[in-house]
Amino acid sequence: MAWITKNSATARIEKRDQPYLTGEMKQHLTSTVLPRYERKAGALLPCLHAVQHEYGWVPHQAMMEIAAFLSLPPAEVIDTASFYEEYWLKPKGQHLIQVCRSIACEVCGHEKITQAIKDKLGIDVGETTDDGMFTLIELECLGSCGTAPAALIDETLHENLTTEAILKAIDQVKAGGGKHH
Ligand code: FES
Repeated sequence: MAWITKNSATARIEKRDQPYLTGEMKQHLTSTVLPRYERKAGALLPCLHAVQHEYGWVPHQAMMEIAAFLSLPPAEVIDTASFYEEYWLKPKGQHLIQVCRSIACEVCGHEKITQAIKDKLGIDVGETTDDGMFTLIELECLGSCGTAPAALIDETLHENLTTEAILKAIDQVKAGGGKHH
């Protein structure tokens, strides 16, 4: 079997001068979140959440800053952030398209829906368009199995989907512009 090499040794980490975890955020976390935990480390998830809430995702630099803030090894912060699916470790587009891939939607042809979106936007599942407008993911049951296949575009649920309907919905979002996280 061939070795699969990881490029983590040569991966480039984006850095910016201003911190992601600003003085104001630290102050807020120190006064309202840290007192709820016996040890500072307990506040790791709320800190990750605060960063994601502010920026829409959790950049690598922010994880380093959280590690320093909570006196934790950076590896522990990175492990935790990558363990939970709710944390975005890559920038997210202005609009998030989430196609259900659970059983009812699978039976009703979710694959065709996903494929139509991929073809239209020129991205794969988990990717963001070059203009930063759309990110596409698949997720588990949206609780709309009776009207499968279903997908969310931002907070709007689209049911009984056809490929035409989802492409039209994307066009409408494009025409409307606006920023949503
Ligand atoms: S399986 Fe898709 S909404 Fe439930």
